[in-house]
Amino acid sequence: MIVYVNGQWLEDTEATVSFQDRAFVFADAVYEVLHIYNGALFKLDLHQERLQKGLDTLRIPYRANDLKPVFDELLKRNPGVQRGSLYVQVSRGAAPRAHGLPKLKEPTIVAYVKPFQPDLRIWEQGGRAVLVEDLRWQMCHVKTTGLLLNCMAKEEALERGCDDAIFHRGEIVTEASASNLFIVKNGTLLTHPNGPWILPGITRHVVIELARKEGIPVEEVQFTKADLLAADELFLTGTLSEVAPYVEVDGQKIGNGQVGPVTRRIQEAFRSETG
Ligand code: PDD
Repeated sequence: MIVYVNGQWLEDTEATVSFQDRAFVFADAVYEVLHIYNGALFKLDLHQERLQKGLDTLRIPYRANDLKPVFDELLKRNPGVQRGSLYVQVSRGAAPRAHGLPKLKEPTIVAYVKPFQPDLRIWEQGGRAVLVEDLRWQMCHVKTTGLLLNCMAKEEALERGCDDAIFHRGEIVTEASASNLFIVKNGTLLTHPNGPWILPGITRHVVIELARKEGIPVEEVQFTKADLLAADELFLTGTLSEVAPYVEVDGQKIGNGQVGPVTRRIQEAFRSETG
């Protein structure tokens, strides 16, 4: 696989970054994961917009739009990836370790693509999740590489024989380890509002638009663990999870324990959108 690192095109086995890179030392970096459908990047403009907001928040001087030619070249150099994902990370750069933000001129940019296999078991039969207290910071809307608590939550789910972890802050359900979350109650979709507790997911945004087009009401409101467990249906959304039904949480069935009709409609609408 040919990858991009700071202006160079390299075999993945040859690509390296400095041990002083601030992504490595401080998670001083933002990233995006894009889905490639039929050889093309899905919702590139929205990913660039979110990346730019993250760069501005962290005060990393870089224009996300400058990545477009890199992405085009990356797809050209890896023509086998018709269905896949693109990972891109922009860090402040490399500097001797110090907590203040150094005024670096050269951010470290890494980008690569890889093939993607959808998880058909979850898509078709629904996954199983566990609830995990959300101990992350108050800037979950910024897509930084500081994902250790997301990784630990996912690991807890796997160790408990489940597929994913759903975060809650006290009674309030926020999102999953790498996906946003929707419940269906009496035909209405409910999802946590954008803000510091969740990532403003691109798939979440697409699903809200599709639902409204389908005539399915959507409310961006907070809801509790009890609401989640009493929901008719539950699904997660994300670039890699797409529209993933979940049928069990902490060993309790959601609805009748089967993937529900509203989730199926959203899945179908999403599939027609992505091709
Ligand atoms: N994760 N919430 C969190 C915490 C995420 O990490 C992600 C995406 C999402 C969904 O966002 P989107 O629909 O824009 O992909 C929500 C990516 C895929 C990852 O870290 O691999």
